[in-house]
Formats: sequence, structure tokens, C-alpha cells
Amino acid sequence: MIDRQNDPDPASGAQSEADNPTAPRGGRRFAGELSDRYDLWRVARPHLEAIHRAISDQVSRFAEAHGDRVNAVDIGCGDGAITGLLLDDARVDVVGVDNEPKMIAQALGGMTQWIERGRLSVVEADACGYLAEQEDGSIDLVASGYVFHNLTPAYRTKVFAEIRRVVRPGGLFINADKFARDGEAHYQDLKWQVDRFFEAFGDVEHIDILRAWVLHYIEDEGPNHLMPESATLKELGGLGLVDLSIICRERMDAVMVARKAV
Ligand SMILES: C[S@@+](CC[C@H](N)C(=O)[O-])C[C@H]1O[C@@H](n2cnc3c(N)ncnc32)[C@H](O)[C@@H]1O
Repeated sequence: MIDRQNDPDPASGAQSEADNPTAPRGGRRFAGELSDRYDLWRVARPHLEAIHRAISDQVSRFAEAHGDRVNAVDIGCGDGAITGLLLDDARVDVVGVDNEPKMIAQALGGMTQWIERGRLSVVEADACGYLAEQEDGSIDLVASGYVFHNLTPAYRTKVFAEIRRVVRPGGLFINADKFARDGEAHYQDLKWQVDRFFEAFGDVEHIDILRAWVLHYIEDEGPNHLMPESATLKELGGLGLVDLSIICRERMDAVMVARKAV
């Protein structure tokens, strides 16, 4: 049921600690307790529904204008949160790509019906490795949720460049993620989010998951992970993507859309 491509990153040859896609320390960031209880992350983000609604609206509008079946790739599909939104539109077929077997197992648990109907395939692969094997302009829509901030800036740039290459002219890139606002606003957003973690997991039973998410969010503040909104839009524009905009902002989280010029 799963297609496996085990080479970590054939496109970039990223093997060193400094250039590892999931730095620091070279580990996959969702191999531990965060993937075991990934569902709990949602409890601490009451705004996730609004983020997902923005994605669904955008996908529907794109499929409507496209007028034919849409082939989409969900980068870092995890347990299938974004994949499910894409599949909710009957005109969209999806390839879900993720390098963490435990997350893929969760996606497969709830999505076999789509695989059986031929609308979904799941590939265990590194994002850059998978994209490097796709032809220029062969994909209508690349979607992703909460993946890019886990990548080092150098590796993120490689994945962005691959996305620009594989998306067809007029195609769409839509990415929900932690895009840091400039200045004080970002720290207010972070404070609000950490407070939600304590509210959601502050009881003794969930203390380990509380620690894991708070430490993950602190690590996300470092230069290896922080993804500033303004710099990221500038970078994507520099790669030649157009019509860049943030279509939804909820505290730390935002939905960014971009097009490949026709
Ligand atoms: C926070 S989860 C997001 C899951 C889902 N997209 C969502 O919106 O909830 C990040 C996912 O990205 C995957 N991931 C991180 N780095 C990756 C890489 N280099 N290649 C493929 N998947 C990656 C992780 O394994 C994890 O499943």
C-alpha cells in the first residue's frame, strides 16, 4: 500500500549534520512522542478549523477554474490532515509524501478507502527526494501543512525550488505553517500558544506531551527553524512564484498561497 523511497535526500546529498533536512541533531522530528499523540496538538490550536477552511476554499476555487481532474501532492502528509481536505474535493487526486513511518501509519489507518478508489497513494520518502523524481511542470497543486518550519533554511530553499520546478504554469502552491510575524507580534503569538499548551495538557497525565510540545516550539524559535513570513514570501517571489499572499492568519499559524506564472 505504501511506496517506499528510503534514500533521505538524493537531490541535495544532504548528509551532514549542518545540512540535514530535519536538523538539529539529525533526527526526524516526528519519530517520538509527538507522533504517538499527534492528535493532541490540535486540542491546543482551536483555530485550526479556520486554517483548514481557508485551504479547502482555495482548493475548491482552483479545481473549479482548472476544469479537469487536479493532481495534487501533499508534502509531509503526516496523519493526512491536509490530504483529507484535498480529497474532500471530488475533482482532486493526491499523492501523500512523508519520511516518518509512524506518521504514515496514522494516515493509512483512516484513508484506505481513498487508496482503494484510486484517488490517493502514499509514498514514504524525503520531500526533496520525491520531488526531484517528478517531471518539470507535471503537478497541478502542491499542498503542505506544518512541514517547512521543521526543515533547515538551506534545505527549505531546495524544496521550494523543486516545488517551483514541478508545478505546472498556472499551478498552485498552498502552505499552512508557522509563519513568524515581524517583531513583537511574533512573541505575543508564541506566548498565547504556549498558554494554550498549558491549558490543554497541563494535567499530570499529559505532562510528557506538554514538555515535548513546549520544547518543540522553543526549538522552532532557533535559526534552524524559524520561518519569518516576510522573508519567506520574498524568497518564493525570488524563485519566480507569483500572486503570493497570506490568505488566513491565526496567531502563529498562517496559510500562504502562490502560483507559478503562466
Ligand atoms: C507537523 S507534521 C504535519 C502533518 C500534516 N501535514 C498536518 O498538517 O497536520 C510534519 C510532517 O512533516 C513530515 N516531514 C518532516 N520533514 C520531512 C521531510 N524532509 N520529508 C518528508 N516529510 C517530512 C513529518 O514526518 C511530519 O509527518
